[in-house]
Amino acid sequence: MGIRIAGTGSYVPEKIRTNADLEKLVDTNDEWIRTRTGVEERRIAAADETASTMAIAAAEKALATAGVDGRDIDAIVVATISPDYIFPNTAALVQHHFQCRQAFCFDLSAACAGFVSSLEVGFSLMRSFPKKYRNVLVCGADKLSVLVDWTDRNTCILFGDGAGCALLQNDGTDSPDSILASSLHADGGYTDVLRIPAGGSHMPASHESVWGRKHFIYMEGRETFRLAVNGMVSSSEEAMAMAGVTIDQVSLVIPHQANRRIIQAVAKRLGVSEDRAFCNIQHYGNTSSASIGIALDEACRAGRIKRGDLVLFTSFGGGLAWGSMLIRF
Ligand code: COA
Repeated sequence: MGIRIAGTGSYVPEKIRTNADLEKLVDTNDEWIRTRTGVEERRIAAADETASTMAIAAAEKALATAGVDGRDIDAIVVATISPDYIFPNTAALVQHHFQCRQAFCFDLSAACAGFVSSLEVGFSLMRSFPKKYRNVLVCGADKLSVLVDWTDRNTCILFGDGAGCALLQNDGTDSPDSILASSLHADGGYTDVLRIPAGGSHMPASHESVWGRKHFIYMEGRETFRLAVNGMVSSSEEAMAMAGVTIDQVSLVIPHQANRRIIQAVAKRLGVSEDRAFCNIQHYGNTSSASIGIALDEACRAGRIKRGDLVLFTSFGGGLAWGSMLIRF
């Protein structure tokens, strides 16, 4: 079959919010944020920027890299927890922009595990129906700045906005698919650890929900940290074992960018040197569904990934949802 990532792209908004800016909003300081999280600044989307506009900007770059016309996209998956609307889905808005009118479109909600989950679904569609799906656009896009409580120092320091995309293409040759193995999991028993309580059918928007600040991200930081390291390490080991690959053979690990200390702990437990664990959290913070897509694109453009390299994605997020995927780029 020969399904591979033919192009990548990313987009981050222009506006930068530094740690010094946050010192004016909450009782925190640059030194605390840097040492506890590794974040130095994050991007904040403008009022007229949304998950779909950021996904489109990233997708344009992915299509250009792949040399594919947007009208030739057969399916679009957008991973997001900050869709433009409850419905229609964000992917449909991306589809409208590219005028790929027949394309099958849907959003995927797996929080920070969204990009890897969407890659899994995209690859699966292409393997199941190779004639129908030759070009599948996978996007991760989030505008978390509208879901963050900018009066809560426990969470507002962590998150930022952006989008990352990968264009999956079946070149129709006998070459092997680039996805070698994946290990994705979820555990719905941890909804209290990481969630947005209101805005869905459980707690619809009301005056009380707004006054109670229930439309913002709630997180138990320490517990999330512990679960994230365990989940990313175990799923990485599972994916590598499935493919019969050892960590020494992996050129680059691209972890979800949640906290520099999480990335360091995962790298240490996997036995990979820090220079082989990609980190750009200092610039963007945690962009949730977008983080691995942005990191993948930056790694490609910086020449840190070459065709044929083994690359390991590992992710963790609300749900809980976590998982890893090993690809030969
Ligand atoms: N600035 C200054 N002090 C802060 C602070 C801030 N922004 N946020 C919390 N603190 C304080 C706490 O109130 C606490 O004070 P206390 O000891 O007087 O009670 C102290 O710092 C330590 O808090 P703690 O929560 O134990 O810090 P931590 O080392 O666990 O770091 C996180 C907090 C949130 C950075 C860390 O737990 C984390 O990154 N967790 C994972 C989050 C994540 O990845 N979420 C998304 C998953 S996809």
